[in-house]
Amino acid sequence: MQMLKRGLGKDEIFQQTGMVVGVKDANFHVNEGEIFVLMGLSGSGKSTLIRLLNRLVDPTHGQILVGGNDVATMSKQALIELRRKDLAMVFQSFALLPHLSVLRNTAFGLEVAGVDRKTREIRAMEVLDQVGLKAFAQRMPAELSGGMQQRVGLARALAVDPSLMLMDEAFSALDPLKRTEMQELLLKLQAEQQRTIVFVSHDLDEAFHIGNRIAIMEGGRIVQIGTPDEILRNPSDEYVRAFFKGVDVNKYLVARDVASANETLVFQVGADPKADMRKAIAQLRESQRHYAFVVGADGRLQGTVSIDSMYRAMETETNPMATAFLSHIASVPDSIVLRELIGHLVRNPVPLPVVDADNRYLGAVTQTILLKKLVEEVEASHE
Ligand SMILES: Nc1ncnc2c1ncn2[C@@H]1O[C@H](COP(=O)(O)OP(=O)(O)O)[C@@H](O)[C@H]1O
Ligand SMILES: [Mg+2]
Repeated sequence: MQMLKRGLGKDEIFQQTGMVVGVKDANFHVNEGEIFVLMGLSGSGKSTLIRLLNRLVDPTHGQILVGGNDVATMSKQALIELRRKDLAMVFQSFALLPHLSVLRNTAFGLEVAGVDRKTREIRAMEVLDQVGLKAFAQRMPAELSGGMQQRVGLARALAVDPSLMLMDEAFSALDPLKRTEMQELLLKLQAEQQRTIVFVSHDLDEAFHIGNRIAIMEGGRIVQIGTPDEILRNPSDEYVRAFFKGVDVNKYLVARDVASANETLVFQVGADPKADMRKAIAQLRESQRHYAFVVGADGRLQGTVSIDSMYRAMETETNPMATAFLSHIASVPDSIVLRELIGHLVRNPVPLPVVDADNRYLGAVTQTILLKKLVEEVEASHE
């Protein structure tokens, strides 16, 4: 601690003492009902920090206030109570008990808390229903896929109705498709239940997608806290800016290189534009997106639409499609460099269509896609 106070860095302290500075200078406040994401590269201290919140790691110094009580100094008994009643954790490794059924795993927290069997099973069925696993209540964990097992992990945490949920890389072990599915499930439940969640992720896409606010960690410190938009517009220091540095490192990268073909809904309009729009609206709702691109049979981009613009257009009698196009969203030529692309995305923080010289649609770029690409490039350039 004295070396830290004298301003020595993590590496120096390790060299001289063999001790690792896990987390330092981490001051933040989590608002009720928000998803607060801790993001950073591997080894930046995310797990240590989230484990300090329920004292799976004992702090050397500092305060951790949960509902006004200091977790750092509370008695063993108070800590046990807090963990049972107020905190729930979801782990990357699922951490299910293999010899217990899905139902018993889900009810486990309640069982430990001494809730009677009938009450806890009713509650467990309720949350299993919320995560779409009611029909699997009597199965054993090993009979379920990874994604389903993590749904049980989530249900087990929800069952105790925690005032604070801690999720450490909870979706990181899942394949990308399942991972997106779990993110959507979490967002859906969050819209209904407004829980207070601290979520650890090393994935920029995930952090930007689910976080109300994000704390970026580096070397055990929190280097910036803000909404995704604030961080994107105003990177606070060198480390955060390093996410953007890829722009300099990679002058050769152009919009075409980052355009993603499957992030955004693309549809064609046939003889019945209103029916096509209704279908597109339903699909957008389903995937919790707002914008879509309309492309002709020849592959050429016709325009960008939103749920709102389509609703408005459907009320017009003639040529509803033309009315639906958002005139302020221009397409992006595939050959512009990333620095220029950032300018486009800052002016218009929505998915932008990338087209070639013949106006053929190539894919979409979003702030998240771009940032992710830049981080990959920065990481690669550090190796
Ligand atoms: N049990 C431990 N003993 C010693 N050092 C540890 C331990 N756990 C983590 N560390 C170190 O603490 C730092 C932060 O690790 P961690 O919190 O696991 O980071 P993250 O979750 O962001 O990957 C790293 O330097 C890591 O090597
Ligand atoms: Mg970790």
